Amino acid sequence: MPGELAVGIHDLSIATTRYALTHETLAAQNGVDVAKYHDGIGQRSMSVPAIDEDIVTMAAGAAAPIIARHGTHGIRTVLFATESSVDQAKAGGVHVHALLGLPSAVRIVELKQACYAGTAALQFAIGLVHRDPAQRVLVIASDVSKYDLGSPGEATQGAAAVAMLVSADPALVRVENPSGVFTSDVMDFWRPNYRSTALVKGRDSISAYLRAVEGAWTDYTRQGGRKINDFHAFCYHQPFTKMAFKAHRHLLEFCGYEADDEGIGRALRHTTEYNAAIGNSYTVSMYLGLAALLDNADDLSDQAIGFFSYGSGSVAEFFGGTVVPAYRVHLRSARHRDAISRRVPVDYAKYRQMHEHEFPTDGGDHPLPRETAGPYRLAGLFGHERVYETGADSRPDRSPATAE
Ligand code: CAA
Repeated sequence: MPGELAVGIHDLSIATTRYALTHETLAAQNGVDVAKYHDGIGQRSMSVPAIDEDIVTMAAGAAAPIIARHGTHGIRTVLFATESSVDQAKAGGVHVHALLGLPSAVRIVELKQACYAGTAALQFAIGLVHRDPAQRVLVIASDVSKYDLGSPGEATQGAAAVAMLVSADPALVRVENPSGVFTSDVMDFWRPNYRSTALVKGRDSISAYLRAVEGAWTDYTRQGGRKINDFHAFCYHQPFTKMAFKAHRHLLEFCGYEADDEGIGRALRHTTEYNAAIGNSYTVSMYLGLAALLDNADDLSDQAIGFFSYGSGSVAEFFGGTVVPAYRVHLRSARHRDAISRRVPVDYAKYRQMHEHEFPTDGGDHPLPRETAGPYRLAGLFGHERVYETGADSRPDRSPATAE
């Protein structure tokens, strides 16, 4: 609408882990035909955190380039979304605040509702910027997805962080009103406080996701949203990339359209590239889809993008956004591709060792070996306190807004 304040994503930066496990390696270990992983669920490899990496180190690694480029001026709020929290009380974002040297005049909070919380953070940030357009909000989502060894979910694991600067007059994507929202109390996927791995009712979780697609879309249209044909591309939450294809087929059929493979492929092209290599990154997943789309598609200026965010349990949201002309000079495409391609492949034994790592709960000093190649690391657990420090590559990246 003319005169309406445009608010949305001004900058976006992703980070992932030092290590990767290929699905060839996992398939050989589990005695599974690798085609089930490659074609059946659409995954090629999964990011595996080094022993001294976690949601905080990835989050700081994703956010540091944003602070280096834009400074801290106007940032009075940091919203940190995760479902793999490292503390029941303290927000992980407070550790990030220290690592990045953010000013003290900032409020920080952690948000949780399974994989949906990144979108909650984005929408709350947009509300804050509407209240005071001079402010900018740093939204960070960071997650490590972990299932039991040998379980069906194991092949969908992954880990990543995304940082987004939300502002008025954004350089990348204007986020539109309205949103369609949906909540239904289901136990499709959850992680009790006493477990480090998630529990899931596999096929039921897929049905719950598809019901949420219907519910969020129905509310979106009731609120006066766009028609489905208005959208050039769709970014879905991707627990595994084939889920996006199932979801889009379901949405088209729900809207009364015939769903052909070619049309679905066109609508999702590029959005699955990073997720197929990284795996499920929970709150980050849909935004990895957006990063991959912006980084790899032909010019998207003025194109409408549909977003579907799903968090088991369950809460979902459908909303639209428009890509801002000249967005391309602000992208970090080379850096994103490099974060994925420079991961070091590990064998099954090394992956298993990291999967099984847990700190003793005795309150003693438990320093960690230096493994990460990233800018921040978890130094260890000392008297129940997690201690973070700058890591191997702590050179500041002060590159201006030109495509990286
Ligand atoms: N070649 C090609 N395809 C093959 C194959 C082969 N050799 N073998 C099997 N497949 C296909 C199957 O036909 C199936 O495809 P369809 O779904 O299109 O029928 C696909 O590969 C998977 O096979 P199965 O259903 O037999 O696999 P599974 O039961 O072992 O595991 C899963 C699948 C239940 C999704 C499991 O990966 C899982 O539990 N994942 C975690 C839960 C999850 O991701 N749920 C998604 C919705 S919940 C959500 O979105 C929140 C979140 O982030 C967790």
